[in-house]
Amino acid sequence: MLVLGIETTCDETSAAIVARNEDGEGEILSNVVLSQIAEHAAYGGVVPEIAARAHVEVLDHIIEQALEEANVRFDRLDGIAAAAGPGLIGGVIVGLTTAKALALSLGKPLVAVNHLEAHALTPRLTDQVTFPYLLLLASGGHTQLLAVRGLGDYVRLGTTIDDAIGEAFDKTAKMLGLGYPGGPAVEAQAMSGDAARFAFPRPLQGRPDPNFSLSGLKTAVRLEAERLAPLAAKDIRDLCASFQAAVVDMVVDRTRVGLRRFRETAGQSPSALVIAGGVAANLAIRRGLQRLGAETGLRIVMPPAALCTDNGAMIAWAGAERLSAGITDGLDVSPRARWPLDPNAPG
Ligand code: KG4
Ligand code: ZN
Repeated sequence: MLVLGIETTCDETSAAIVARNEDGEGEILSNVVLSQIAEHAAYGGVVPEIAARAHVEVLDHIIEQALEEANVRFDRLDGIAAAAGPGLIGGVIVGLTTAKALALSLGKPLVAVNHLEAHALTPRLTDQVTFPYLLLLASGGHTQLLAVRGLGDYVRLGTTIDDAIGEAFDKTAKMLGLGYPGGPAVEAQAMSGDAARFAFPRPLQGRPDPNFSLSGLKTAVRLEAERLAPLAAKDIRDLCASFQAAVVDMVVDRTRVGLRRFRETAGQSPSALVIAGGVAANLAIRRGLQRLGAETGLRIVMPPAALCTDNGAMIAWAGAERLSAGITDGLDVSPRARWPLDPNAPG
């Protein structure tokens, strides 16, 4: 089965061709990702209107390139998948409408993919992880621990009560003048910084609910930065390292509690702990979770960094999984700015 996947929910325009065989094994034939970072950098964050226009300008070419690189023609596709949300609605409309036009003109099935579900299912493409598994989904807009029980069957165990982890990285970067996107910039600074210089708080440490909180930590970094101003290069490195160390400790502690909650509610252990979303590209967080895996005996699965951040292959793969299960969508399916994975835990 060959599926075209289209991703336009934020600031990456991406199209990919993914194959899935009858044993459920996937292969990425192409995955073209065009980042709009340059367009948004001057504003210190993603400007929705600019993002939507940029998607319109390049999406056709990106799709053509994805087909070319995969050496696949339109008529060989078994389905057209697009992220139908959640995300910036202008961009979502661009991708979904393009997918509808292709599906209609080619007479192929359409699959409207939940962007978060695509992040959640990526480890099944890269590592053939079996259900049920524990998922830490951490991106610029989301921070959640989920029990992934089956295709389309997600139970949210915990979430952030204020900022998302990626958002905290982005805000910290902005505060320290490191620009956008903040995650990779803060991580790069942290590498040569002293993580022990500042004792930042570890929010919610030890609490029995596997929730996250970032705003207190963010404020602590801001107060310290204001106290030290003007900041020397070393101050920035040490602030980043100390901030990142606090995030790692929190993520490990919260995920440990999430694992406990999973076992209590499911009556079994997850097949793996999977991390997904842009924040999963962070090496310090990856190492922290590897330690948790060693401590708890849990298999840790982390897709390669390029598949953790937004990309078309994850949309194509989620589309292929749904198509294989006989799930398709009508041409009247609506784009959604909000679309929680667990319908009982909106937001
Ligand atoms: O999943 P994603 O590409 O887009 C969505 O938010 O859906 O995630 C982007 C987020 C941004 O907040 C970015 O700063 C963060 O992931 N991120 C990182 C790293 N790379 C990306 N955060 C920490 N360390 C990184 N290396
Ligand atoms: Zn994402």
